[in-house]
Amino acid sequence: MAPLNLFRVDLVKFTPRGDERGWLIALENLQEVPFEIRRVYYIYGTQPHVRRGKHAHRHLRQLAVCLRGSCRFHMDDGKAKREFLLDRLDRGLLIEPMVWHEMDEFSPDCLLMVLASGPYEEIDYIRDRSSWQAELPVQE
Ligand code: TYD
Repeated sequence: MAPLNLFRVDLVKFTPRGDERGWLIALENLQEVPFEIRRVYYIYGTQPHVRRGKHAHRHLRQLAVCLRGSCRFHMDDGKAKREFLLDRLDRGLLIEPMVWHEMDEFSPDCLLMVLASGPYEEIDYIRDRSSWQAELPVQE
């Protein structure tokens, strides 16, 4: 599958810190998280066969971390599509501006945490796919 190269859509690897007591993962602004965190939200109790997301953001940057269970992200930057299964505590998925994203295959116990660079603002959402396509920058 072709890599997404217009926008940076990728899994970020976190460093687990372990000792005889167990494990700890730390996420810091401008370190593991490549932006200043202004909001945290989490999705849980997702019903079977539900597909969430189905939008892109004009400016918001997000990092999704599945803290329990698993779910699948479908990402589209207008040039290529990629899927990511989030099922590890030491991986986060960057969701950059203008990337259309949908999530499905939530396990019943899925706890999906999302770190965001800004407050919730409906005006930043593009929920209509043809509007999103029209707003995409011209690509080579
Ligand atoms: P929605 O955007 O439908 O979630 P998703 O796109 O991830 O499937 O959000 C569900 C509801 O929660 C909707 O009424 C908006 C509200 N909401 C907030 O109030 N604050 C937030 O940070 C988010 C992400 C959603």
